[in-house]
Formats: sequence, structure tokens, C-alpha cells
Amino acid sequence: MGPYTRALAVAALAALSQASPILPRDDSTNITYAFTNPNGLNFTQMNTTLPNVTIFATGGTIAGSASSNTATTGYQAGALGIQTLIDAVPEMLDIANVAGIQVANVGSPDISSTILLELAHRINTVVCEDDTISGAVVTHGTDTLEETAFFLDATVNCKKPIVIVGAMRPATAISADGPYNLLQSVTLAANQDARDRGALVVLNDRIASAYYVSKTNANSLDTFKALEAGYLGAIVSNEAYFYYPAVQPTGKTAFDVTNVTEIPRVDILYSYLDMSNDTLLSAVENGAEGVVIAGTGAGSTSGTFSSAMSELSDTGFPIVRSTRTGSGEVPYSDSGSISSGFLNPPKARILLGLLLAKGNGVEEIREAFGKVAV
Ligand code: SIN
Repeated sequence: MGPYTRALAVAALAALSQASPILPRDDSTNITYAFTNPNGLNFTQMNTTLPNVTIFATGGTIAGSASSNTATTGYQAGALGIQTLIDAVPEMLDIANVAGIQVANVGSPDISSTILLELAHRINTVVCEDDTISGAVVTHGTDTLEETAFFLDATVNCKKPIVIVGAMRPATAISADGPYNLLQSVTLAANQDARDRGALVVLNDRIASAYYVSKTNANSLDTFKALEAGYLGAIVSNEAYFYYPAVQPTGKTAFDVTNVTEIPRVDILYSYLDMSNDTLLSAVENGAEGVVIAGTGAGSTSGTFSSAMSELSDTGFPIVRSTRTGSGEVPYSDSGSISSGFLNPPKARILLGLLLAKGNGVEEIREAFGKVAV
């Protein structure tokens, strides 16, 4: 199938899905599988000379469908099912035997902590604990991809490559980036050199550490960057090239979430000039068990807000100060609110939620964040 024919096929499938936009869509009916493994994973091919990779689909633009092939905003994210995505890229079957699991089919702002925990539990069970599976791919909307990637980096720790991938253009767009991104992510998940580097993010021919990478532009393909830490490698002609040997991020805390069923609510509050303390009080009143401040500069807040923060911290309520600037560090402090170090607000929020879920108190939380601060 040539690229133009494939684009037409994807557009036709997208048009069909628009007629019945029920989510999540089950497109696995009427498919004959070549092999079903003991965990119930269905493979459309089983070539024993190839590695086995599992794709966990959650929705997003990579599974998105628009009414015009020039629309790159305002379309329906999470419209196409996992089998449609796999069928659109038959080249991946030259790289690996692939099984798809539809975990959700939503726009990524609707990825809940229940979905995050389900992803971690399933990857740990059907990928980590199964010696016959080389790695995992998670397809995801780009808007919150960095949060899920950070979560999986912290909670799946079996050394196998866990690759989180998205797309900036829906499947129906001219030059949709999803199919090649998906092929590259499967290639990476099947690659032994990608092991023991923590979870990885692949978009726009770049390999990034899930721990550090962020979405930096609302529209462009060149959006995922780690401004301080840089990329881990590049993919050229579908060959991965790593700039460095395998290494884990400095200060990373690993979690076993086998018995975790809930992540406590953590809110992010955005700082600005002359900010009042209302949002802090409201977050606490509405059930937040921790708060992350997207502070100005290196984590500053207005005098009014800082006073409210001090009073609340003194009661043992965890408040983490990060920065709204997009990069840089909030330096360590040994009392009062907790510094996020190099973690941006969304990543600090995920870490704080995990620490609270494991029952940690303020001093243990300070210690965990202190590993990423100087
Ligand atoms: C989303 O995050 O679900 C929509 C935007 C995207 O995937 O790029």
C-alpha cells in the first residue's frame, strides 16, 4: 500500500468512525488472530524470528479524525481504535509481532488517575512479567503526554523499553505524523539498546526521556523538548541512534503501585502578579490533599499568597513550589513549602500524587523532591 493509498484508507476509516462517534470504539470484531498468548494478547501475525511488542492505546490526536485534511485543530481526538492504527502501518509487522490493547479512547485531558493506574498495572503484568514481550508502546494525546510518560517512568521499572507516542496532526490530515511516529515507537520498543533508560517519548524523529520532556508548542510537530536535559537520541530512516549509553534520570523515585488503587487529588495553582490566596483556600476546601504552585521565576508568589502558604505548610499540608517559566530549577529549602527542583508543575503534581498514594508525610516528600533540587 503506497502512502497516498494509505492516507485515503485512513480517511475512509475516519469518515466511518465519524458516522458513529461512540468511544471507546471496538474495531477488533471480524479479525482473525494468528496467535493469542496466555495473557490474552492477540497478535495478527506470529513470526518467531521477530520480537513481540504490545501497544496500549488511549486516544488522542494520533487516533484523531477531522472533517477536512487541512484541519490540525478543532477535530475529534480518540476517534479511531487500536486495530485501525495498527492496520494503517503494516511496515511495523516487519519489525515486530504486535498486539493491541484499547485501554481508553479519549482526549488526553480526560486521562484519569484510574486510567494511569490501569496502564501501569497492565504494563507491569503483561509486558514486564512476560519474558516473551520485548517492550510496550502507549499511544496518547500530546496535551498531557508528559504527565502519563512521567507516571509510567516512575511506576514501570522492569528495564524494558516503554515508549509513549502521540501525533500533532490527526490521521486525516495531509502529512499526518502519527503513522511514522507509531512505526518509530514500535521499532524502539523492540530495540535492546532502548532498555534501562526509563520510559521514552518519541515524536518528530526524536527520542526523549519521559522524566524530562515537555510539550513546548501548541501546534508544531517540533514540540516535545527537554530544554535543560536535551534529547537521548534520534531516529533516522527508522534506525534509532542513542547519543549516550543507558542511564536513568538523576533523582528519580521509583514506585511499586501493585496495591495502589487511588491517587489522592493534587491541584496545580498558577502564580501571577498580585495573586490572592483564594485559589489555595478553595483547593483545600474542595478536597486537594496536596498542591503544586506554578510559581513566577524560581517559584515566587505574592506576599498574600506566600503568607497563606506558610500558614498551611505549618499544619503539615504538602505544598510544592515549581516554576511557570517552562524550564530551570526551584532551589531546595529545608522548611516550609517544598521545592520541586527541576520538575515542572505537571510532573511535580504526578510525583506528589504518587508520594501521597504511598502514604508519605511532608518530610519524606521533601526528601524525594530534594533529590531533584540543589
Ligand atoms: C489530546 O491531547 O488528546 C489532543 C491533542 C493531541 O493529541 O495532540
